[in-house]
Amino acid sequence: MNTLIAYAGKHGATRQACEELMRGLSGEVTLVDLGAGETADPADYDRVLVGGAIYAGALKEEAKTFLEEHQAVLLTVDLGLFLCGADKKEQRQETFFADNVPAELLSHARVRGHFGHQFHFDRMNFFERLIVKKVVKVRQSEDKLDLDAIKRFASAVEQAPAEGMDE
Ligand SMILES: Cc1cc2nc3c(=O)[nH]c(=O)nc-3n(C[C@H](O)[C@H](O)[C@H](O)COP(=O)(O)O)c2cc1C
Repeated sequence: MNTLIAYAGKHGATRQACEELMRGLSGEVTLVDLGAGETADPADYDRVLVGGAIYAGALKEEAKTFLEEHQAVLLTVDLGLFLCGADKKEQRQETFFADNVPAELLSHARVRGHFGHQFHFDRMNFFERLIVKKVVKVRQSEDKLDLDAIKRFASAVEQAPAEGMDE
């Protein structure tokens, strides 16, 4: 079983979440940072986990593009989707998936996760700091990665049937 984790983040939270996720998976795992220009062919993997950070309601662009460009292949693999974001409302998290992932892929994905967030004020630009202070009302860095959610996601991925996934 080989797994591709393809992710796009900006300030490091998504990367850290993916490194956590890797620890919960068996077999060979390849981590690809789409935001840094890395890429991979999902056809080379049995399982593909794709995700990224949410900024102003949008999934980080490189993750969105990866999902769109590889849609046909992704519909043939065991697929998981994940997000990093600060919004705690489950309803909003569902909306993020619906707004950012092609509908066919969303219904094909067997596992979905929301991994929480981090705010790194030292890595944000002026406008990002301003938005977080004014809109989210958070004034300093915080680490709210949801390690339990990442573990649950990893176990759900591990329970995937290796064969017979034709949906
Ligand atoms: C400018 C800005 C806008 C954001 N917009 C959203 C948002 O619309 N919804 C949300 O759930 N989280 C939002 N977040 C929180 C990020 O998704 C969160 O900090 C995430 O952990 C960032 O991941 P990264 O460090 O991998 O870039 C925003 C953060 C910043 C700095």
